[in-house]
Amino acid sequence: MDIPEGFPDMPIPEDNQLTEDRVALGKQLFYDMRLSRQSDVSCASCHLQERAFADQNILSIGTQERVGFRNVPSLANIGYHPYLFREGGGISLETQVLGPLEAEDEMDFNMVEAVERLSQFPDYQEQAQTAYGRPFSAFVLSRALAAFQRTLISGNSAFDQDQRGELALSEAAARGLQLFTSEKTNCQNCHDGFDFSNYAFENNGLYEQYNDTGRSRVTFQDSDIGKFKVPSLRNVALTPPYMHDGSLSDLESVIEHYNTGGKAHVNKSSLIRPLGLSDDEKSDLIEFLKSLSDNCFISNPDFAIE
Ligand code: HEC
Ligand code: HEC
Repeated sequence: MDIPEGFPDMPIPEDNQLTEDRVALGKQLFYDMRLSRQSDVSCASCHLQERAFADQNILSIGTQERVGFRNVPSLANIGYHPYLFREGGGISLETQVLGPLEAEDEMDFNMVEAVERLSQFPDYQEQAQTAYGRPFSAFVLSRALAAFQRTLISGNSAFDQDQRGELALSEAAARGLQLFTSEKTNCQNCHDGFDFSNYAFENNGLYEQYNDTGRSRVTFQDSDIGKFKVPSLRNVALTPPYMHDGSLSDLESVIEHYNTGGKAHVNKSSLIRPLGLSDDEKSDLIEFLKSLSDNCFISNPDFAIE
């Protein structure tokens, strides 16, 4: 795997070390519609490479056009996330696959039947033997999908090229970066590090009343209402609309949200407060966010199926 400069080593489980065969099998599965009961939806139906493995719907749309309850997140650098899903309810890529597979508004299938169905294909049996030395099974299915997803690394945006001294950011984007890291905005307090996320759970003041209560769905604590995993901002310009429910349609609306300081909520982070940004400062911030788009990532043939 090509780990970009400045990225840490990725934690990979002992029993699922990456090999080319495992990743190839995982890619095959990621694009296979037969993983849904009606064979009408694959992982890639919602996680599109040209959208950095997110999509552009407000809420996800699954089998038979069923509308889900959250906006589809990007899978770029997903192998680094310490927990999965917007409220952190998923513990590993290996176990996460049960989520979409069984959700009625996503693939509406189950592991037993999915394995039964795919086991009938000699290609999958052969690939399972080569990759994991055993017949096609839930073990193979979940591990191969995890292996493929760990290769989805994005670290070659204009921002990265600037950091490596290969290409300078535009002046507007450079000013935006300054603002992003300044105490005037506090953006970097949460969107920090190589992936522009500290992976903490925060309430950024989207609502006074949350229909989707976020982290508290897992912890049952009132103090976690309205808290969501801080999303990575890599490729963010490619993945509108924004937030857990897709309620903000573009980057302009996001910057406006932060500039006003958001809605009042007891759990809102004290870092979210009116910023007093000028129009020029707002557009500089947006130019900086656009510099996080990684064209190599979204056009890398290794992640696509012929
Ligand atoms: C119907 C659309 C849809 C399909 C099909 C789908 N997903 Fe997702 N995926 C989502 C949504 C929506 C979320 C966010 C769910 C949440 O946070 O509760 C998500 C979240 C994830 C996450 C966690 C991302 C994060 O930031 O924590 C991973 C990993 C993932 N999906 C992988 C897959 C895989 C692998 C498949 C195929 C087996 C798949 N998805 C199929 C819509 C979909
Ligand atoms: C207190 C922590 C915190 C601070 C400070 C913060 N954010 Fe966020 N940001 C979040 C959280 C949490 C979300 C996701 C909320 C949700 O899913 O509803 C988010 C979402 C976003 C999104 C949408 C990403 C997506 O894929 O949906 C963008 C863009 C963004 N923030 C940019 C910024 C900018 C620019 C600043 C500074 C002006 C900033 N953030 C300051 C925590 C923070």
